[in-house]
Amino acid sequence: MMLHAELPDYICLPDPFSTDFYERFAREIDVYFAYAFSMSTSHFLVELAAERGVELRSIVDMGCGSGWTAIDLARRGYRVTGLDLSQNMLDLGRSRAEVVSATVAWIRGDFCDFDLDQPVDLAVCLGESVGYLHTPARFVTHLQTVARNLKSGGLYVAQFSFPIFHWATVDCDIRPPFVVFSGFEPIARTARGTVDGVEVEFDAYGDIVHYDPASQICQSHLRVVRHEPSGPVVHEQLEAHRIYHPAEVDALARLSDCFEPVGWYADFFLDAPLAGRPDSPCFISVLRRR
Ligand SMILES: C[S@@+](CC[C@H](N)C(=O)[O-])C[C@H]1O[C@@H](n2cnc3c(N)ncnc32)[C@H](O)[C@@H]1O
Repeated sequence: MMLHAELPDYICLPDPFSTDFYERFAREIDVYFAYAFSMSTSHFLVELAAERGVELRSIVDMGCGSGWTAIDLARRGYRVTGLDLSQNMLDLGRSRAEVVSATVAWIRGDFCDFDLDQPVDLAVCLGESVGYLHTPARFVTHLQTVARNLKSGGLYVAQFSFPIFHWATVDCDIRPPFVVFSGFEPIARTARGTVDGVEVEFDAYGDIVHYDPASQICQSHLRVVRHEPSGPVVHEQLEAHRIYHPAEVDALARLSDCFEPVGWYADFFLDAPLAGRPDSPCFISVLRRR
């Protein structure tokens, strides 16, 4: 799906820009999602809901990819919907859910424009998928869409990449292959695995090519390497994601007229508040539906 339309002219995106890479290389990227998946995310969401007095029964995972977290939540007994633009990602999720006998409703759709049958108790947008909302206006549209699918008092949890994660990479010019630096700790962003008997690598954020402070848009390469018997075959595409700042998310949430910011975390642990954690590679915002 092309996402260029309706952008103001201070924004420069790679041309053509799309998120089709997720569709074309779903199985290779799934290798990375499997590597990045952690049960601590679901654990955090469940504990958070309890702490905030939300009786948690139903959840929508927006930009769910191949559904690792959606399935984990379903296995814990919640009614889960996984929503994504990529049909191939959803198909991978569906197959895996069948294997582990988990029930998830899989919906192909845009997290800026969808309608569930019934509003849910918790909406999540994980793995920095919110970065694909390239303008503050689109983020507000997203929030308003989420709000009509969320019960009053329900929670919205989104994971954003934290600016230092990118600035460290851009400014310090430290770009060894497959590793970026956050603060002082190197974070491996490459996963390796096997697809159809072929060894593959997926490199997320390995090489940031441009950060535009005017639009807060960061361009980097998504890169898949397939080690075919004849030699490595590299598929590469520029992707662009917007860096949001906590104060901005706070302001846009209030501007949406639907949400109240209620919590900020540096990681998927209730005892990891964002305050005092400038070295964190991400931040997690918790908004409550009015
Ligand atoms: C970085 S991946 C994150 C996947 C998953 N949440 C995780 O943490 O592993 C981003 C996902 O968002 C999906 N996506 C991007 N834009 C979207 C949109 N507007 N609506 C729904 N899904 C979208 C992509 O297809 C992709 O599967």
